[in-house]
Amino acid sequence: MNYENILSEQQNSIVTISINRPSKLNALNKATIQELHEAFKDVDGDPNVKVIIITGSGEKAFVAGADISEFANFSVAEGGQLAAQGQAMLFDYVANLSTPVIAAINGFALGGGLELAMSAHFRIASDNAKMGLPEVSLGVIPGYGGTQRLPELVGKGRAMELIMTGGMIDANAALTYGLVNHVTTLEELLPFTQKIATKIARNSSVAIASAIASINAGYEDGENGYDTEITEFGRCFGTADFKEGTQAFLEKRKPEFPGI
Ligand code: COA
Repeated sequence: MNYENILSEQQNSIVTISINRPSKLNALNKATIQELHEAFKDVDGDPNVKVIIITGSGEKAFVAGADISEFANFSVAEGGQLAAQGQAMLFDYVANLSTPVIAAINGFALGGGLELAMSAHFRIASDNAKMGLPEVSLGVIPGYGGTQRLPELVGKGRAMELIMTGGMIDANAALTYGLVNHVTTLEELLPFTQKIATKIARNSSVAIASAIASINAGYEDGENGYDTEITEFGRCFGTADFKEGTQAFLEKRKPEFPGI
């Protein structure tokens, strides 16, 4: 598919999706959110894709937020709709994908940019990255899940402070907070992320999908993560991957997971 605002590139079983509006610091306008939805949907449905990396084009920004020029004149109803549609189409969608998504944060990740990175299953940042939720400086609040995912990742007090000040933290502070798992140089960011993605890709993709569903269930209102874990654990026993994984172990060879 041809995209205007994003690039999608596959290397072996790893797809890297780059938001490609560097002159606007990769700000998320409506068209970009739509294209990201299509791209994620497309690769999630492809059995040859085992891991997705999401990053920003250029050396300055991952994503500098939702496109402010698009919503500056919105009404109350339009504001609510913007958040609801964005969450359904991209942010919740990514968080609940069965293919692992890693955010490689290569610069500013602000507002909707940090919310997108937080929707990914985990994050790696380059040492020039700056992260924050500056929405209250615009008279609005994070609307793409930021008020929920930031406290989950860094704790309530730190999230309150970051959101109330609208300030930015650097990559090392984000590492200390647990917001990102690793910090690299900008040059090393993609190679390092690809190395981790390669490790993930060697494992059973169906078991990983069950793990994502179980972990996410613990954070969903009205769901019992332990119950989900039991169901997903049982489900694994019916997969060809489980048969191959256990057989390969017993035969002292590397597994060749069929991914079903
Ligand atoms: N929405 C729309 N356009 C944006 C944008 C956003 N969130 N963030 C950056 N841009 C645009 C700028 O308007 C500018 O466009 P122009 O060249 O046509 O004027 C271009 O990207 C470059 O940004 P600029 O502000 O000139 O870069 P900078 O290096 O001086 O500052 C930031 C970088 C990230 C500090 C600054 O761009 C910024 O504060 N952006 C908004 C962050 C924000 O509040 N995000 C939350 C939105 S809810």
